[in-house]
Amino acid sequence: MNVERLIGEAQGALVAANERFGDQGSEEDEAWELLEHAWGRDFEWEDEVPTDVARSFRRLVGRRETGEPVSHIVGYVEFRDMRLGVRPGMFIPRGTSEFLAAQAIRRLHGRHEPVHVDLATGVGPIALSTARAVSQASVWGLDVCSRSLGQARRNAAALGLENITFRKSDMFAGLPARLHGGVDVVTIHPPYVPRSEVADLPEEIRGFEPSHTLTDGSRDGLLLVRRAIDESPRWLRPGGWLLMEIVPTETRGILPLFRRAGFRQVRSTHGALRYTRVLVGRL
Ligand SMILES: C[S@@+](CC[C@H](N)C(=O)[O-])C[C@H]1O[C@@H](n2cnc3c(N)ncnc32)[C@H](O)[C@@H]1O
Repeated sequence: MNVERLIGEAQGALVAANERFGDQGSEEDEAWELLEHAWGRDFEWEDEVPTDVARSFRRLVGRRETGEPVSHIVGYVEFRDMRLGVRPGMFIPRGTSEFLAAQAIRRLHGRHEPVHVDLATGVGPIALSTARAVSQASVWGLDVCSRSLGQARRNAAALGLENITFRKSDMFAGLPARLHGGVDVVTIHPPYVPRSEVADLPEEIRGFEPSHTLTDGSRDGLLLVRRAIDESPRWLRPGGWLLMEIVPTETRGILPLFRRAGFRQVRSTHGALRYTRVLVGRL
């Protein structure tokens, strides 16, 4: 069977799966990615697929049909210009966060040996982006989840990055005291789903990403948001920035908290993918 027929066959199955679980409309890309993974090489539409490759491809499609995210099946996700390893038990970086990374990079460029702290770093997409783009920066990625941090370190090693440190830490708690008042940019993409709404998330998310990556367990989902706003001023240098990725419905409630904590130039911004906002404030 050639690639075109095999992908076509899989697309039908994936449409049904994505109606229940995922991103409708992305079935062809998903099938292509799964075939690349099964085959381990590039191919064209007219290429004949060896029988054993077709067999393993159909097995992968079967896993996807149960709702398992493509990133878990292939073991990586593309983020900016990087391929980041990701495994079950960790948050899968989203394309929307590329805008948060870009906003951080913009503010680090031009500063002398700047320091960037990425709270709730997960497998490190934001921290790895700035470490790669701003080579003279010192970057810290902090998270409470050892498993994610292990993967973040493997991602840094695969990218050959040495200007980045990943540390187990409840928010800022594990950061060295010498960085008080010395941080240029703090970023956070927090787990912001209210506790009672986790059950309503799509199975693809709820069933495959641990709840501590989705919610902070509070009623309104804003416990870590408030902590980031309250704790950042102690760590930021004057003129430093706090950048926070959040859903649009929460922005109006959170912006006043930035102002109350002493931030100025407070704004809500968004990138080309409008599903999330990045709130920014300067000390
Ligand atoms: C929505 S995920 C974001 C991960 C990553 N920034 C990304 O965009 O892929 C939230 C992360 O917050 C971490 N987390 C939860 N509570 C935390 C805390 N108290 N301190 C630091 N990190 C925490 C979770 O382990 C998870 O990795």
